[in-house]
Amino acid sequence: MAEVVVVPDAQAAGALVADTLVALIRRKADAVLGLATGSTPLATYRALAERVRAEQLDVSAVRGFALDEYVGLPAGHPESYRAVITREVVEPLGLNPRLVQVPSGDPATITHAGADYEAAIAAAGGIDLQILGIGRSGHIGFNEPGSSLASRTRIKTLTEATRIDNARFFASIEDVPTHCITQGIGTILAARHLVLLAFGDSKAAAVAAAVEGPVSASQPGSAIQLHPHVTVIVDAPAGSQLGQLAYYEHAWAHKPAWQGI
Ligand code: GLP
Repeated sequence: MAEVVVVPDAQAAGALVADTLVALIRRKADAVLGLATGSTPLATYRALAERVRAEQLDVSAVRGFALDEYVGLPAGHPESYRAVITREVVEPLGLNPRLVQVPSGDPATITHAGADYEAAIAAAGGIDLQILGIGRSGHIGFNEPGSSLASRTRIKTLTEATRIDNARFFASIEDVPTHCITQGIGTILAARHLVLLAFGDSKAAAVAAAVEGPVSASQPGSAIQLHPHVTVIVDAPAGSQLGQLAYYEHAWAHKPAWQGI
């Protein structure tokens, strides 16, 4: 089962994940990170950037793969996930931009962009640690409900609910793309360690369904139950609908410190 860790807030989650990421990079200088966008992982990226600076960690060989991208936004659009990953991850951490890839949402190459991305991840030797958020609909990456649990990187149609949620980043809902390209659920499950973050009560139902619900394509987050090494880090509101909360807290409180997450 997933390990569930309840933390006070996103900053505490960020500190915990940054510890793991620093240890990973010290162990493997060319570690391959799976990078989520959205607001959820921002505190983690900030915590890691702080650690990199404070400890003068060499990240020059660290590689990264974003989870997803919109289809059809003009190159350089500030809300393209390429721009977000550059702004929130590559620049603050000082990563080599050539080593950080984002799936291409260019309509001209979309027919083979998914297969190209899969080939690039395979050539990198796979993803060591995949950071995940979760949408209110239960989506991970942009794998909306109904996505095949074996899916690989491909084009998807966004649900109206996701377009409405993401309209806050655009001038209006009409400006939110209708399609995206996303790592598939099968792609995500191939990463060696999954770290799913969720904060706030709007995520409580999706977190409970992902961790404790039946494994179902209708709840894409539930696919994490098929993975042998998953860490779910939530604040109390996001964890409030978990039935086994007391057990998770007991297990975390009694975990040997050397195990990490
Ligand atoms: C977005 C992204 C997901 C993200 C999710 C939650 O649509 N494609 O990768 O996890 O929705 O976003 P947020 O973290 O802003 O709540």
